[in-house]
Amino acid sequence: MPRIFITRIWPGSAIERLNGYEVDVWPEFEAPPRDVLLQRARGVDALITTLDDRIDAELLDAAGPSLKIVAQSAVGYNNIDLDAARQRGVWVTNTPGVLDEATADIAFALFMAAARRIAEGMDYVRAGKWTAWHPSLLLGADLHGATMGIVGLGRIGAAFARRCTGFDMKILYTGRKPRPLADAQGYEFRPLDDLLAESDFVSLHVPLTPETNNLMNRDRLRRMKQGAILINTARGQVVDTEALIEVLRDGHLAGAGLDVTDPEPLPADHPLLQLPNVVVTPHIGSASYRTRTTMIELAVGDTLAVLEGRQPVHPVVSVE
Ligand code: DGY
Repeated sequence: MPRIFITRIWPGSAIERLNGYEVDVWPEFEAPPRDVLLQRARGVDALITTLDDRIDAELLDAAGPSLKIVAQSAVGYNNIDLDAARQRGVWVTNTPGVLDEATADIAFALFMAAARRIAEGMDYVRAGKWTAWHPSLLLGADLHGATMGIVGLGRIGAAFARRCTGFDMKILYTGRKPRPLADAQGYEFRPLDDLLAESDFVSLHVPLTPETNNLMNRDRLRRMKQGAILINTARGQVVDTEALIEVLRDGHLAGAGLDVTDPEPLPADHPLLQLPNVVVTPHIGSASYRTRTTMIELAVGDTLAVLEGRQPVHPVVSVE
């Protein structure tokens, strides 16, 4: 009977569709440690993985020639060595399209929280400091009429842009080239450095690749407007954390909203968390019940397709 290793327990009932197979599900909250992953992958036909399972040549070789598919239950797949999979004739799939709205929601929630200082307000109340109304208490930034710079106008970036237009914001975007459809909606293309210099807020929506690793380095963070706010729901490594701490500490940036960090998970004593103007959530961009159940549905569907000799619907690496 073909064997499948699933590296997490997922919400919903998608896994019941695998009842003709021998299914091993890692039961712990934390990711399987490397040695366990190597051992549990041995001899399987399919792996259903997610963002912090490192899938490299060593792991693929540990799985061996029976492995036909790595079905990544996430849209990002920077944890997977695609060339190594290609060389070994292993399909890689992901879950595009189903988490755009949920991730855009978190980006917008972080944006509003950072701009209107929601977490600081909560801390203030909890600390018993709320003794009076005052005209200068916790002044934040206006959203309406402000300029939002979107780095990466893919599906998630576009869903985020739609939310911003609902708040009467001007949208600038950057990417490899201008997009006629975006321009038709009134969004304006800018090279990255110009976008950083012109935007009141900047939101990152790029995948992690060698080109985007450390994209927001010290120099680029300093190019952002004095008093601007940075939102990151993409991957932590897109931003230089040390430099971000520096520009937040010296007041160059007014705040940051981060659903992803480098390192991740972020230890509770990390210097980022000592800054009052930073809002951090634990990589929960896609964490709604419906979105997560849909993500695992897609991964299971593609796994079944490959194991039954059909083409998967969401290939990242195809096997001809
Ligand atoms: C992804 O899918 O890549 C997100 O980071 C988690 O849902």
